[in-house]
Amino acid sequence: MHLTAFDDSQALAEWLAEHVAGRLRSAIESRGNATLAVSGGSTPRMFFKTLSAKELDWEKVCVTLVDERWVATSSNRSNQKLVTIDLLQDKAAKAGFLSLYQPDREPHEVRLIEKDLRALLPLDVVVLGMGNDGHTASLFPGGDNLALATRDDCDLSVVEMNAPDAAEPRVTLTLPVICGARDLVLHIEGDEKREVLDDASETLDPAKLPIAHVISKCPDLRVVWAP
Ligand code: 6PG
Repeated sequence: MHLTAFDDSQALAEWLAEHVAGRLRSAIESRGNATLAVSGGSTPRMFFKTLSAKELDWEKVCVTLVDERWVATSSNRSNQKLVTIDLLQDKAAKAGFLSLYQPDREPHEVRLIEKDLRALLPLDVVVLGMGNDGHTASLFPGGDNLALATRDDCDLSVVEMNAPDAAEPRVTLTLPVICGARDLVLHIEGDEKREVLDDASETLDPAKLPIAHVISKCPDLRVVWAP
């Protein structure tokens, strides 16, 4: 794990947007297209806006989410809504988007998109967030599918997840997909999250703080932090 501390959110957003844009450009140059999976929540908004203005061949980029809340895309809880409003705008409006949510279906039916998701692997860039309870993507402490989603030999890319502290049913990319990314970044802000990260790095107890799975299984993890 390599940690970079920035002076403030804006400096972090600018660095991260340039980093991700650079990785997407290189992927397009090498393979003709690029894939990016991002997190929801409130932390990535400034990064999304900055990235959406970057000059690159966005029509060759497919964006998806590392996790989704199983709510209508019109809901303010929807990560897809957030990405549509903050990222798939400006120059990035030309990017493709693979939704993890399917209206009128149950969360376990997310497995119907397994084939579409698998076609994008390995993902070129994954940007994770983290909650103060140590969850990342929707790998929640106490999650009913946490053991399945974090098995090294899990052959699913995406699974449903219910957890006591998640306000609604979730779906999440699995650990092998996250750790299999060509470039993996954890974006966190604030002192509390820094303490949770330090705690997870020291105790490496993934049942309590699932981010510990990522720390121990993804040695190239790059953490970016701002106060
Ligand atoms: C989600 C996210 C989740 C998020 C953390 C941090 O849908 O909830 O993808 O994993 O990254 O909860 O959220 P904040 O940025 O709001 O603190």
